[in-house]
Amino acid sequence: MTKPGGQEIRRLTAPAALLGVLLLGAQSSERQTLPGDPLPGITAMEFELFRMGLEDFTEVETPEDGLGPAFNGNSCAVCHSVPAIGGMSSITETRAGRVDETGTFTELNGGTLFHLFSVPDHRCQVQIPPEANVIARRLPVPVFGAGLIEAIPDETIVAMEDPEDRNGDGIRGRAAWITDVVTNRSRVGRFGWKAQHATLLAFSGDAYRNEMGITNELFPGEVALGVAPETLALCAPPRKGLEDVRDRRSGLRGIDNFENFMRLLAPVARGPVTSLAREGELIFQSAGCAACHVPVLWTGPHANPAFDRKPVELYSDLLLHDVGTGDGIEQASAGMNEIRTPALWGLRLRRPLLHDGGAATMDEAIRRHGGEASAVTARYTHATAEQRRALLAFLGSL
Ligand code: HEC
Ligand code: HEC
Repeated sequence: MTKPGGQEIRRLTAPAALLGVLLLGAQSSERQTLPGDPLPGITAMEFELFRMGLEDFTEVETPEDGLGPAFNGNSCAVCHSVPAIGGMSSITETRAGRVDETGTFTELNGGTLFHLFSVPDHRCQVQIPPEANVIARRLPVPVFGAGLIEAIPDETIVAMEDPEDRNGDGIRGRAAWITDVVTNRSRVGRFGWKAQHATLLAFSGDAYRNEMGITNELFPGEVALGVAPETLALCAPPRKGLEDVRDRRSGLRGIDNFENFMRLLAPVARGPVTSLAREGELIFQSAGCAACHVPVLWTGPHANPAFDRKPVELYSDLLLHDVGTGDGIEQASAGMNEIRTPALWGLRLRRPLLHDGGAATMDEAIRRHGGEASAVTARYTHATAEQRRALLAFLGSL
C-alpha cells in the first residue's frame, strides 16, 4: 500500500480502521487479475522486479544495442503482445532442415531457426538452403503464469509419462529430458513447442540471442544460419564483450529482467462459466482430452509463498506427444513428430491455434489431432452436436 493511504488509515479510529482493512482485503481478493497483471500477493520488492522486467520486455532494441545481424523481432513484446504484454501474436517463425531417405533428420548449417530479418545489409539476410526439404512455421506461446509452470517439479511431469503405453489407452506421453544451459543439469523441459527449455532464465538467454540477435552470458555467439562467419563480421563488427550488459544500478542483466517479468506474470483468469460450459467440462474428461490436457498440476515446496504448493490450472501434462501434427523438426529432446501438449489456460483469448497457427477455430484444432489422440478425436467427432457445443463452451471459458 502507498504511504499516504497508510497514514489515512492510521488517523481513523481503531474499529473504523479495522473495517477499512477488512473491506480492502475483500476487494483485493475478489478482483480478478487481468491479462498482463502480476501474480496477486507478491511483495513490493517483487513488484519492482516485475516492473523493471516489463520495461525490458517491451524495450525496442536497435543495431547499436546489439540487435541482429539476423533477428526475428526487435523486442520480446512484438511477438508476445496479444491480448496484453506477455501474450502471443500471429507472427510465425521459420524453421527448416533436411530429412534423408532413411528418415534421419539433419540440421543444415548447424541449426534450424532461419531468421526473418537482418540489419540493413543484404549479405546478412539468412537464406533457406535449397537442400532443405522440411520447412515449418511456429507461433509464439503466451507466457502468462509461466512462473507457476516453472515451479512444477520434474518428478510431477515424469510421473505422468507412459512411453510404452502400459495402460493401453493409445497415449504415450514422454518427458523431454534436456540439459539446462544455466545449471548444466539434466532437467525436464516444459517451455517451447518442443519442450526445449526447463527454466525461464534459459529461455530468456535463448530468445535474446535467437530472436533478437543479442548475445548474452548463456548464448554468447552471434548466429545467422547460412551466413559465413566472415560475412557476419562485416554486418556486425565484433565488439568487446557481450551485448547484454549488466545494469549498473540494479546489477541485473536483460535476461534476468525477462525472467523476473515472466516469472511474476499472473495466469489468465477463467472467463464466465455457464452451465453449458460445466457440462462440457464433463465431456472433456469422459472423451479423454484430460489424459493429455491435465486440468491441474501442483507446484512443489518453494521458499516463496507465491509459488509454494500452488494449484496450476494449465490443462497440460507438459509431455511430448505425437498427435499427427509434428512439424518435422528435431529439436532438443523432441523428435520430428513430437509436440509438447500446449496449456489451454487463456485459450479464449488466443487465435490462431496449433503450433503452426493452422487452425482458425477450436473445432478445427481438435479435428487436426490424430496419432496418439485418434481415439479421443473419434469420440469428439462421433459425439452429438449438443455435446460438441458444450465442449466448445467449456474451452471458450478457459
Ligand atoms: C519474432 C517473435 C518472437 C520474439 C521477438 C520473441 N519470442 Fe518468445 N516465442 C516466440 C515463438 C515463435 C515461441 C515458440 C518457440 C518454439 O517453441 O519454437 C516463443 C516462445 C517463448 C517462450 C516459451 C513459453 C512457453 O510456455 O512455452 C518464452 C518463455 C519466450 N518465448 C520468451 C521470450 C522472451 C524473453 C523474448 C525476448 C527476449 C521473446 N520471447 C521474444 C516468438 C518470439
Ligand atoms: C494425446 C494427447 C492429446 C489429447 C488426447 C488431446 N490433445 Fe489437444 N493437443 C495435444 C497436442 C500435442 C497439441 C499441440 C498440437 C500442435 O500444435 O501441433 C494439442 C493442441 C490442442 C489445442 C490447440 C491449443 C493451442 O494453443 O493452439 C486445443 C484447443 C486442444 N488441443 C484441445 C483438445 C481437446 C478438446 C481434446 C479432446 C477432444 C484434446 N485436445 C485431446 C495433445 C492432446
